[in-house]
This record gives sequence, structure tokens and C-alpha cells, in this order.
Amino acid sequence: MVDLEKIKEKFLASLSVLTKEAEVLNLKSEYVGKNGAVSEILKSLKDMNADERKAFGPKANELKDFIQDQSTIHLSKIEVLEINKKLAEDRIDISLTDQVLVKTIKHGGFHPRTLVQQEIEDIFLSMGFDVLDGPHIEDEFHNFEALNIPADHPARDMQDTFWFHDPHDEEAKDKTGKKRLLRSHTSTIQVRGMLGRKPPFRFIAPGIVFRSERTDASHEMVFTQLEGMMIGKDISVANLIYFMKTILAEIFKKDVEVRLRPGYFPFVEPGFELDIRCLICSGTGCSVCKQIGWVELLPCGMVHPNVLKAGGIDSDVYNGFAFGLGLDRLVMMKYGIDDIRHLQSGDLRFNSQFKLF
Ligand code: PHE
Repeated sequence: MVDLEKIKEKFLASLSVLTKEAEVLNLKSEYVGKNGAVSEILKSLKDMNADERKAFGPKANELKDFIQDQSTIHLSKIEVLEINKKLAEDRIDISLTDQVLVKTIKHGGFHPRTLVQQEIEDIFLSMGFDVLDGPHIEDEFHNFEALNIPADHPARDMQDTFWFHDPHDEEAKDKTGKKRLLRSHTSTIQVRGMLGRKPPFRFIAPGIVFRSERTDASHEMVFTQLEGMMIGKDISVANLIYFMKTILAEIFKKDVEVRLRPGYFPFVEPGFELDIRCLICSGTGCSVCKQIGWVELLPCGMVHPNVLKAGGIDSDVYNGFAFGLGLDRLVMMKYGIDDIRHLQSGDLRFNSQFKLF
């Protein structure tokens, strides 16, 4: 009669030193596999007499179960050990990653114009203005006609417009009969804003505009304006001045000296030029203010009745003001930039001087 206890002890002794899953599976099959030692014993039961089988059978079966259970337990112990080993070896070193990131990733920043634009938008939003947008490619209606500048009006020459076609070439008109152009001012959005609204309303519209101009320290072909419009009942020039002084004081964090001069724009009557005391040279004269101490910042005025009409507004009941802030000049004043061409240069040495995200 085989000694089941001995087999059990031998199995346990072998199992206890195993550290690999495959070794455990091999050992298990040596005992309880198809031709394993314990399996052979179980097969031999049939050759025993009834009493022997009764005494031996259950014990042999118990041993088989025991070996299977112990193998399973040992396998899970090995698995836990392996996981722990991996955790210890493959630990993610967060501090190391951090150092690598700081060295290799360059953080971007906002363009100074974006910073100022966001600041102005926030101020106007807090005063109840909407912020609107409009297309860069426009038609004559929005850029000129609706703004009281009919065809052949001399004011069309005030802004050197980029046309997509020769304006005198009838063949070149698009299907709608309107010639396409790159908007020469954000006043186009006055028209779009009026047509989509019922008074009273107030909105601003920042965006780039295009003019075929000779560039110098204060002129660029692509520059940024921030249009503003407020329409309601009994609006006056005093309202306009109040809003502008409030905005400028917020942006420059101090009272800014302003002056109004008469200015001609077909879409406002009366029209003004609002100048601010040059903050680069404090008024003594520099290239930005062209040595005159004042910077032309804000053409503005009371909206012309013809413009209100083109925008679907009853000019007998409603009136209002409009302005076209020169955003680039404002940026230059705020950061002490003496040449507008830096803004468009894409030069990282220039851009990286400004606030990061
Ligand atoms: N659109 C005008 C320009 O670009 C500026 C302006 C806007 C003037 C609104 C008056 C009122 O020259």
C-alpha cells in the first residue's frame, strides 16, 4: 500500500521552493495530471478489493483535491509577488518626468494684441455690450453702401481697399452683382449687427482689417480695429465720451488725457477723432505720435440716419454712436512698443516678452 502522507509531504516540499508559474503547473501535472502519481493510484483502485477501496479511495481523492488546491494557492502567491516586483521596478518617477517636461516643452503665450483685446472685451461685456464677429471677405454693400458711401463717393478713396477684381470691370462682378473685397474696416459689422437686432442694443466687434497702404512705424496693411455701436433713444456724444474714458482708464490703470477733434466719416454726423496723449513719450514727441505728442486712437461719431435706415432702424425714434478703436495703437501704448510692424513680425524674441498662459 502506498503511503499517501509521504506523497503529500514530498509534494509540499517541492512546491514550497517553486517561484515560477510553469514550474508549479509541471509539478501539479506530475501528481494529478493524466499519468501523474496520484492519478495512477486512483486508477489502481479498481484492482483493490472492496474494503481496501473503501479505506483508501477517499484518502487518495482527498490528496488529489489537496494537491490541486495547494497548486492554485501557490500560483496566486507567485502572481502577487510578480505584481509587487513590477510595481517596485516600473515605478513612475513623477519628479523625473517633471524635470524633463520643464526642459523640453516650451509654453506658448498670448499675443499682446490678444491680451489687450480680451481685456477690452471683458470691460465692454461688463457694461452690457455683446461681442460680434464678421467675415473678412466682404461685399460693397456692407463695406460701403450701407455705410452711406455710395459708388463713386469720394470717401471710397479714403481707404485703399483690396479688391478681388478690378472695380471698374463689369465682367468681374460676382453673381450677386456685388464686388468682393477685403474689409477695410470693422464698420461692416455695424451693418450686420443692426440688421440682426432691435434697438436698444450695444455691441463691439474686434477684428483684422486690410488696406493697401505703405507701411511705417504706425501703419500696417493688416491691422486690428475694434468697432463699437450703441443704439437707443436719446443717446448723446456725452455717452460716447463717458464710455471711451472709462475704457481707457481701465486699460491704462490711470486717467488718460483725451481730446476730440472734428473728423469726417460719411457714416457718422457729427464725426470726431478722439486722440490720447502719447504714452510712449508723454507728449514730448516720438515716432509713434509723429512728434506731435498725441495719438489718433479713436474715430467716432453719432450714427448717420442713412446708416440707421440701411440697418432697418427707424432714425426718427432711435439714434446712437459708433466708434472704430485702433487696437494695435492701443497695444503699442500699453506695452511701450514703438513700431507697429513688430506686432505682425512673428518674431519670437518679441512675442515671448508677453504674459504666458
Ligand atoms: N471705420 C472707420 C475707419 O476705419 C472708423 C470709424 C468707425 C469712424 C466708426 C467712425 C465711426 O476709418
